[in-house]
Amino acid sequence: MNPDPKKNKTRLLNILFLAGCAAILAFLLKAPPESTKKLPQDEIHLQFYPLDKKEAEKHCASCHAPEGQAPLPEGHPPKYRCLFCHKKYQ
Ligand code: HEC
Ligand code: HEC
Repeated sequence: MNPDPKKNKTRLLNILFLAGCAAILAFLLKAPPESTKKLPQDEIHLQFYPLDKKEAEKHCASCHAPEGQAPLPEGHPPKYRCLFCHKKYQ
């Protein structure tokens, strides 16, 4: 056999591509079920249900800021868009 370096490279790239796909698939299958707490349905939070997400999020910080009445827990993930993670109940 007389290995053609060009063919070998193509095969290597194919293998790398397949390995990449497998890694992504494994990652997606392993992802835990969504478990972040949802936006509560209580007298405080129900008012935000009818609002547009972006509109509603303007109000969250008034209580959930560090100096507010319900500060976020320590180590809370980046909190840019509350409702992307804390989804509304149906
Ligand atoms: C008027 C003050 C106030 C505002 C405004 C407010 N919250 Fe809250 N939030 C609270 C308080 C107090 C608690 C803790 C008691 C409770 O669960 O209602 C809480 C709890 C939570 C919890 C945890 C619920 C749980 O199951 O433990 C989440 C998530 C949350 N708020 C998200 C939000 C988001 C997102 C917004 C903006 C759309 C928001 N809050 C606006 C006062 C507020
Ligand atoms: C990137 C996703 C993400 C974003 C964005 C985010 N959070 Fe959270 N939040 C979490 C996770 C994860 C926790 C850990 C506890 C849990 O499962 O709810 C948490 C916890 C909380 C808690 C405490 C819940 C408890 O255990 O009592 C509150 C209150 C809260 N977040 C409010 C907010 C508010 C208000 C915003 C917007 C300013 C926000 N979060 C944005 C992911 C997020």
